Amino acid sequence: MELEEFVTSLESLAILAEQAFSDAKFHEDFEAARVQFVGARSGQIKAIQKELGSVPSESRPEAGKKLNQVKNRIQAALDAAQIRVSSGASPKPSGPILDPTLPGTRRHLGRIHPITQTIEHLKEIMGRLGFAVVEGPEVEDTWHNFIALNIPEDHPARDPLDNFYLSVAGKTSVDVNADEARLLRSQTSTVQIRVMGSNPPPVRIISLGRVYRPDPADATHFPMFHQMEGLWIDHGVTMAQLKSVLRMFATSYLGGDVTIRFRPSFFPFTEPSVEADFLWNDQWIEFGGAGMVDPNVLKAVGYDPESVTGFAFGLGVERLCMRRHGVLDIRDLYRNDLRFLHQF
Ligand code: PHE
Repeated sequence: MELEEFVTSLESLAILAEQAFSDAKFHEDFEAARVQFVGARSGQIKAIQKELGSVPSESRPEAGKKLNQVKNRIQAALDAAQIRVSSGASPKPSGPILDPTLPGTRRHLGRIHPITQTIEHLKEIMGRLGFAVVEGPEVEDTWHNFIALNIPEDHPARDPLDNFYLSVAGKTSVDVNADEARLLRSQTSTVQIRVMGSNPPPVRIISLGRVYRPDPADATHFPMFHQMEGLWIDHGVTMAQLKSVLRMFATSYLGGDVTIRFRPSFFPFTEPSVEADFLWNDQWIEFGGAGMVDPNVLKAVGYDPESVTGFAFGLGVERLCMRRHGVLDIRDLYRNDLRFLHQF
């Protein structure tokens, strides 16, 4: 065997042996590698050592030197593996070292916001009473927010100070009474118009969503809040149904038997109009407005007030949520303070 060939096989043997020893995890692996490479009878070093005699004599000293170097390398790998295996340490750890005694990294679970939870609950109760859920846009025109709801031009509800009017592209000032005026809806009653405007009677719907009014924030006011609008139009719907629907709703939502009271009130889009109060825990609580849909509204959407009647109501979702959970300040719902939100 030529010197070159001898040295090449020595080299590859060294690499294989070093790999086998550094891979050895347990005593069995270590033993197998030991027998394979340095075993006294059939070890591969022994085998290659026998080839030394076939190297031409002038190259033999050089070949012997190489052989010894490789033997030393393999011995070093063996020694290292032996220490490691007998001490129980695993071979070169790959990836981050896991310390099972350290506390784990806690993943914070998200929760559904209390208002969203309330909305889901309201939908569920009203669904059982046969009301379908519909949605309407938050940016409205004056037809849906006012005119069709029987709120005329000079009505104080349309005052720019009481509404969030939007600027119209390219205009520095907008006539809030113009057709092109747009505003953030100030009530969900807009959805009544949208639903009746595109569906023939009967309709029996609720709509839940945000409304906007420029009220300074305090414990009971916030410039954005949610309302649940209800609307039921059919032949012969009366105030008796309004009262029983609201009572069933309140009983279901607040639990127990809730007494309901109507106080005379005024809304341009209902006639007669009432404020609905619930007696709960010995306290009368005001929950919102309601009434029989004004014939002018029915006419505006193309319904025949001689043929159909109906009721509408608008309840504040925050109030319902706060009552049920004992929240005293509406602003807590919108501070995004996790200590508060985690309680729901
Ligand atoms: N839209 C009224 C409000 O925001 C509530 C209401 C709705 C009253 C439907 C009567 C009928 O105050």
